[in-house]
Amino acid sequence: MIAVYYVTLFLFPGIVFCGLSNYSFPDDFQFGVATASYQVEGGWNEGGRTESIWDYELHKNPNITDDRSNGDIACDSYHKWKEDIQLVQNLGVDFYRFSISWSRLLPSASKGSELSKDGVMYYNKIIDELIARKIVPYITIFHWDTPQSLEFNGGWLNETIIEDYIYYARTLFDLYGDRVKHWITFNEPHQTCEQGYSTGEKAPFKKMQGTADYLCYHHMAISHGRIYRIYETDYKPTQKGQIGITIDSVFGAPKTNSDSDKQAAADYMDFQYGWFAHPILSGNYPAKMIAKIADLSKQQGLAKSRLPEFTQEEIKMINGSFDFLGLNHYTTILSSYGGNYPVPSHRNDMGTVDFRDPSWKPSAADWLWEVPWGLRQLLVYVKDHYNNPPVLITENGWANRGKYLQDLDRIDYINSYLSEVLKAIHEDGCKVIGYTAWSLLDNFEWTYGYTMKFGLVYVDFDSQNRTRIPRDSYDVYKNIISNKRL
Ligand code: NOJ
Repeated sequence: MIAVYYVTLFLFPGIVFCGLSNYSFPDDFQFGVATASYQVEGGWNEGGRTESIWDYELHKNPNITDDRSNGDIACDSYHKWKEDIQLVQNLGVDFYRFSISWSRLLPSASKGSELSKDGVMYYNKIIDELIARKIVPYITIFHWDTPQSLEFNGGWLNETIIEDYIYYARTLFDLYGDRVKHWITFNEPHQTCEQGYSTGEKAPFKKMQGTADYLCYHHMAISHGRIYRIYETDYKPTQKGQIGITIDSVFGAPKTNSDSDKQAAADYMDFQYGWFAHPILSGNYPAKMIAKIADLSKQQGLAKSRLPEFTQEEIKMINGSFDFLGLNHYTTILSSYGGNYPVPSHRNDMGTVDFRDPSWKPSAADWLWEVPWGLRQLLVYVKDHYNNPPVLITENGWANRGKYLQDLDRIDYINSYLSEVLKAIHEDGCKVIGYTAWSLLDNFEWTYGYTMKFGLVYVDFDSQNRTRIPRDSYDVYKNIISNKRL
């Protein structure tokens, strides 16, 4: 299969190869591949596992997903985990990023609740197998699958979840920290908080714009900071691991060269990336966000700002709470002031509207266009605004539909984005420590169900066996890893 790629490369080098960087990846650069529990595991009620918000909502209303599917079986990684690890190993990556299902490990989920023996064993097997095969486990503690029992209590809008989360994370360090040295506290808090509680596009499908989104992240940021400090004092001295958080960002470039569009793009970055990153990298929310939301809240007749305030102690505790910074990045937009949004809402607070250049290549997903230079500019943005922190790209990938084993579009995407990573490292001095392809497998792509494919490996969801077949992009990525160049 990969022959097709190389034949195309030979016949039409311009298509596949245009302007790729000749630099090599540094010797200590780490390559990885990722999945997440609800998207691949299945086994939704095995070993005492209880429902997460996704199980609950999709069991209640199958029409939420494009193909009326859910994650009950998904890729069946609950049973096929060994085969998955074999695929990870054959790819030659340094690490495997996967997440733990909170309600599999702690079926009652709340602080002080009991462990599921099967849950504990399931992740033990995976961790031990990875280590035996010299693959470093990177564990995401929370990847969108809040236990439904906690959601009944308000989920991320109720501050009691902070203690529940801390108990859960501590449990992970106690159980697995002797072997797991890389932890990611949250995956894309932006999506849980905005799409989960504000625009209602993802579970728990709540729509409380411009208030619940801010409250949700406030609680996540505090949970993140607290668990970072707990790990630092109680675990790091003996376990010697590292903790980070994964923040996603679209890159916002100005629509034109005008000062107004440049300012709009700066606001977009503050409201969309800074909201999540600033408290951790610099202390507190971006000043612009604090001032603008306070001002608009006043105009809306509210006694106080819709953006919650951190105490001075919280600001200090959260500031600097990372050993590496996870970055999920897929695409870019062009920004200008304007737009008609509900009042109040985060979008209205931000006050900008998104455009796309018609020359950009669209993927099958309605939010993903191929704009490789945006990744380089985003890396430079992070370096310039936040003192060049060590950045681990924890996700990057391309969406298409169908079986499509000769996935030249995904190959082109991976090559062109990695080429920009090389330039960011060698020409801009960005401290990028690694790259993670999303995803190892086609999997449950949230409200798209199984219609949207991100896998380096195709999965046949019609077969009982969930047969896995590597696509051409799997071989191309494997070659990049082994050569450390494009
Ligand atoms: C971000 C999320 O972390 C992951 O769950 C999702 O599948 C990919 N992006 C692609 O949309």
